[in-house]
Amino acid sequence: MAAEQRLEGKVALVTGAASGIGLACAERYKREGAIVCGSDLNDSDNPAFDHFQTLDVRDGEAQRDWVAAVVAKFGRADIIVTAAGVGDAGPLHMVEEEGWDRVIDINLKGTMLSVKAVLPQMMEQRSGSIITVASVEGLEGCEGGSSYNASKGAVVLLTKNVAIDYAKMGIRCNAICPGFIDTPLLRSVMDMEGMEGFRASVQAQHKGGRLGEPEEIAGAAYFLASEDSSFVTGQALAVDGGYTAGHSHGLVEMMGLG
Ligand code: NAI
Repeated sequence: MAAEQRLEGKVALVTGAASGIGLACAERYKREGAIVCGSDLNDSDNPAFDHFQTLDVRDGEAQRDWVAAVVAKFGRADIIVTAAGVGDAGPLHMVEEEGWDRVIDINLKGTMLSVKAVLPQMMEQRSGSIITVASVEGLEGCEGGSSYNASKGAVVLLTKNVAIDYAKMGIRCNAICPGFIDTPLLRSVMDMEGMEGFRASVQAQHKGGRLGEPEEIAGAAYFLASEDSSFVTGQALAVDGGYTAGHSHGLVEMMGLG
């Protein structure tokens, strides 16, 4: 088998698949030989998809129907990446209840419903790899990130609990915690007027001094889907260019490094 076809025979589902990180994961899985089934609020005619369904991840019935359609067509569900998500920002006294509910419903409840929808099939198979997309902001605080960070921190712990509960059935569950990745979601924030300083500061916190690319998250999603990670479960894998490694204060630059 060619090295680039190591997911041949696997059926992969990806939520939030029309854009950014979800789309990059779908394209990578396709290149690795998987059958790729996407879902998103928005439709997609990207050739990476063998099956695509528009749905809102907050709708549990729609998610169950999607998984049922995939299993009816392809017979299995081996991998799911839950990439559907939205951003939100503001210190708590400025957060409206409506905004809080939206980000928790999409990022946390939507993730839960995706995982819940696919679990019965994986339990029947006694195999599967579940990959949630959390964030570095689910691992540590970030100014102005109250509701978003709460949603992503909860995704990390949900991931660990699913890993514990289903490990004996051959199902693994891991979270990817991306740093700041250059996607339409991030650009919608970074491109707002007056955000130049924010962008420069965020870039500097990634120790290589740059944002990540969606394909760099897809690389981790490939690892977690593949047999190379057969003993990895319950982990929150930061893919963040060193963002969460610790603080830097310019000392090594003063010493001539970099
Ligand atoms: P994106 O905006 O490019 O893609 C997100 C996709 O999710 C979109 O296609 C959107 O239509 C879909 N979506 C949103 N709400 C939905 C809903 N209710 N039902 C179904 N689909 C829905 O964003 P990006 O950056 O690719 O984000 C993907 C995931 O990665 C999100 O969970 C995000 O929180 C997370 N993430 C992103 C980071 C970044 O810097 N871009 C950093 C860390 C985590």
